[in-house]
Amino acid sequence: MDIKSIMPKFPEPYWRDSVRFPQFPKLEESINVDVGIVGGGITGITTAYLLAKQNVKVALIDSDVILNGTTGHTTAKVTAQHGLIYDEFIQHFGLEKASLYYQACTEAKEMIEQTINELEIDCDFKKEDAYIYTNSDTYLSKLETEKKAYDQLNIPSELTESIPLDIPIKSALVMKNQAQFHPLQYLRALLEECVNNGVKLYENTAALDIKQKAYPTIVTRDDHHITCRHVVTASHFPFNDGNGFYFSRMYPERAYVIGIKTNKKFPGGMYINAESPTRSIRTTTIGNEDLWLIGGENHKTGQGIPTIDHYKALQSFAEKHFGIDKFLYRWSTQDLTTLDKVPYIGPMTKEQPSVFIATGFRKWGMTNGTIAAKIISDRILGEDSPYEDLYSPSRFQADPAIKKFTSMNADVAKHFIKGKLEYADNSVKDLSSDEAMVTHINGQRVGVYKDTKYNLHALDTTCTHMRCEVEWNAGDRTWDCPCHGSRFSYTGEIIEGPARKPLPKVDLE
Ligand code: FES
Repeated sequence: MDIKSIMPKFPEPYWRDSVRFPQFPKLEESINVDVGIVGGGITGITTAYLLAKQNVKVALIDSDVILNGTTGHTTAKVTAQHGLIYDEFIQHFGLEKASLYYQACTEAKEMIEQTINELEIDCDFKKEDAYIYTNSDTYLSKLETEKKAYDQLNIPSELTESIPLDIPIKSALVMKNQAQFHPLQYLRALLEECVNNGVKLYENTAALDIKQKAYPTIVTRDDHHITCRHVVTASHFPFNDGNGFYFSRMYPERAYVIGIKTNKKFPGGMYINAESPTRSIRTTTIGNEDLWLIGGENHKTGQGIPTIDHYKALQSFAEKHFGIDKFLYRWSTQDLTTLDKVPYIGPMTKEQPSVFIATGFRKWGMTNGTIAAKIISDRILGEDSPYEDLYSPSRFQADPAIKKFTSMNADVAKHFIKGKLEYADNSVKDLSSDEAMVTHINGQRVGVYKDTKYNLHALDTTCTHMRCEVEWNAGDRTWDCPCHGSRFSYTGEIIEGPARKPLPKVDLE
């Protein structure tokens, strides 16, 4: 293989590599504020920014460092074109609600642009048209149907047989006047505003529980309390789901991005195909050159082919169509999809109106995260939002949600049983450096990873959420659960998902 095309050994998102952030302390005491926010991604930081501007006292905590979760791993398209969705929404919710969804995404896009102008943020913000293209006969009629939905919703658009990008297509649907930016340059500026407006920020501070007394209180892993009038759970998967059973109402999917340089000139635009496997293409600027971001290969977490093969598939696609001059970055991300594909934004449950949740962004977190911040901050400030009902986590749309609910949970049951029946009698002695295996020790299913310094890390592979068996993710060196998407580091620590306890270590002696 050409040396230029060699994949980076470790995953790292370009966004994080190109911005430096201030560090924040760990919370070491109990505090009182008006609003406690859990999660330092786009939703949490934008909510803190909007509230602090109105003199609300806010504390924001993150279990890791700020902006290292899904927001730091996005492709950062600022668009209302969230795949082929509008015809489905019209069929399912009716014209009015489908129109509200478009309006909400457009408002989020405008909010981002307005904030950039107001704060004069240098974040590579660019207006671009967004294209969904297809090269499959099966999808031609689907694009036509989606175009009719756009027309019903008065979305400026065009159905075309040619696009600026040199790639074979049969048809494409263009949504005009969308945008892209560098998400972490944008959010660093919001973070600075938060600091200037008195927001208290804490890193390495995991929330464990919410105690409902006269006011809700966030309890941290170190047993410090944040007492507040409102809690905002912006931690991707809710760290505490208040008996809202969110794990059974969403499914997790992973997706992959590679960052390359090519000798081709990028003609502008943001692209995604309609069919599977997904291919998403945009560029950003690195120095004075284009860094092409090729994404896709979506699959359910912990299921399917070895994860490293997804990066290889993107690499082959890029080589075939654009050529790779330098292979600079690779990273992956995980996001959640709700039963009806509309995020859950609003009070966590009817019984806890002052605890808010924002989740299920379906990988469209820039607009969904921003509108979530607006809806939740409006509600806290006592203002009405036209979007409350559409996004309400307590909504109940029987069809097709119920069918989806049943099939999702049947999938969980299948993986629960498959993991238990699997017979693996591998020998740890056969492990090479930077490799993992599943084996059985004294009847117990054990996952063992040998790191690059030849240390072995052995873990009980039974997920601490609801006891499915985790699988090795070689692309990211994590143990991933196929049931509800909990992910653990090779030392057993929780990275994300509904699990609240690490995977127990196993003694190999
Ligand atoms: Fe639910 Fe693992 S995440 S069983």
